[in-house]
Amino acid sequence: MSKAMWGGRFTKSTDEMINEFQASIGFDKRMYHEDIAGSIAHATMLAKCGIISAADKDKIVAGLRDILQEIEAGKFDFSVDLEDIHMNIEKRLTEAIGEAGGRLHTARSRNDQVALDTHMYVRKEVVAVQKEILNLQQALVEAATKYADVIMPGYTHLQRAQPITFGHHLLAYFCMLSRDFARFQGVYERCDIMPLGAGALAGTTFPIDRQFVQQQLHFEHIYNNSLDAVSDRDYILEFLSAASILMVHLSRLSEETILWCTREFHFVELDDAHCTGSSMMPQKKNPDVSELVRGKTGRVVGHLMAMLTTVKGLPLAYNKDLQEDKEGIFDAIDTVKFSLAVYAQIIRGMKVREEVMKRAVTEDFSNATDLADYLVKKGMPFREAHAVSGQAVHDCIEKGIYLKDMSLEDFQKLSPLFGPDIKEAIAPETCVKNRNSFGGTSYAQVALQLQAAQELLASEQKAHDAVAAKQVQVD
Ligand code: ARG
Repeated sequence: MSKAMWGGRFTKSTDEMINEFQASIGFDKRMYHEDIAGSIAHATMLAKCGIISAADKDKIVAGLRDILQEIEAGKFDFSVDLEDIHMNIEKRLTEAIGEAGGRLHTARSRNDQVALDTHMYVRKEVVAVQKEILNLQQALVEAATKYADVIMPGYTHLQRAQPITFGHHLLAYFCMLSRDFARFQGVYERCDIMPLGAGALAGTTFPIDRQFVQQQLHFEHIYNNSLDAVSDRDYILEFLSAASILMVHLSRLSEETILWCTREFHFVELDDAHCTGSSMMPQKKNPDVSELVRGKTGRVVGHLMAMLTTVKGLPLAYNKDLQEDKEGIFDAIDTVKFSLAVYAQIIRGMKVREEVMKRAVTEDFSNATDLADYLVKKGMPFREAHAVSGQAVHDCIEKGIYLKDMSLEDFQKLSPLFGPDIKEAIAPETCVKNRNSFGGTSYAQVALQLQAAQELLASEQKAHDAVAAKQVQVD
């Protein structure tokens, strides 16, 4: 006879290798808290609806609390034979309290149970990810404040383009992370739907109260359709896609950090505590953290692709394929949280070589647009001014000088519109100061962006605290 919990119709026990292949306990045990909280709510509801006795409910709840302690004390013996976290806990409960334990699974299937646990687990982890996003955003605001006036070249095509400030550059990443934060809020909303009560797929013959369970577990919504409730993995796909986009942002930041650290750019110096050396080359100081974050982006995107492919073509309702939802999202959760946390440290420890950044602007031509704009402001059509400025750049390159080195006579040979104020007009500080359009790089605009960033941070913090307070704790 089979010793499996579903062994009634079987005459043989499961092959050992098959057992191991299909078991998920190795990874789904991290949902133990959600499984226990869900079972306590379910048992409480069953008693309230007169489906089990109050005495049985009390035994179940006390037994589950003991199991929670056992697990947290590291004393719980997880068994592969019991397949997953749900059956491991239920079996232990029945061992501990006897027959009442066998009543817990009334009006429930593992299909709605696993859906419930995963919703609660991902919901909780969304809040944890948001906390790390906030921390990195805070670090970016601090650095942007510190370096608000530091001039550097902005790039297009990785070619020096126009002068900007480092504060402006860092705030671009702040803005990207704000969209990530908002995307995770959307993910939270899609996790915040209660699937329990769907049964295996069709609902149940027992007079359950799904709204009661919904309230106990602090869910905003309830699945209206039992088939959808057990089949839906959209919230996992959404988490993975929000995580992928976030990682792509961190990967771009990493790529820039790596470039800035090179001897070629030499714009920033990372903290020694955040870098590693080479086993052979004594001079090396490598930006491994940035490289790893850039590398780990591939694996998070991979989890998204894996899950999209797993769900594609799956018929309703539960299919064992769906068990594949867990390892990817668990790994994505760990990777995203870790990457955000280390990046906040990298930003906080980063030192900027202001003079090198400034030199990259003064000893180059990123003020050429400003030269053209100067002529436009004196009445020349922009297209013509563009050509004059281009000619000036060409002449400078021939002579091995920069625009700042040209004499007024040289300028006036190109156009009589040039006056003595041209030197001032193309100084890097002027180039920055004059880009005062909304969202631009001027000191005044960056100050406004910093202020907006502080306000956004405060409202994100509020939103985070509100959802953090909603998480279920078994006491
Ligand atoms: N371990 C399973 C999973 O993660 C639980 C649901 C199993 N249900 C079933 N009918 N086999 O998806």
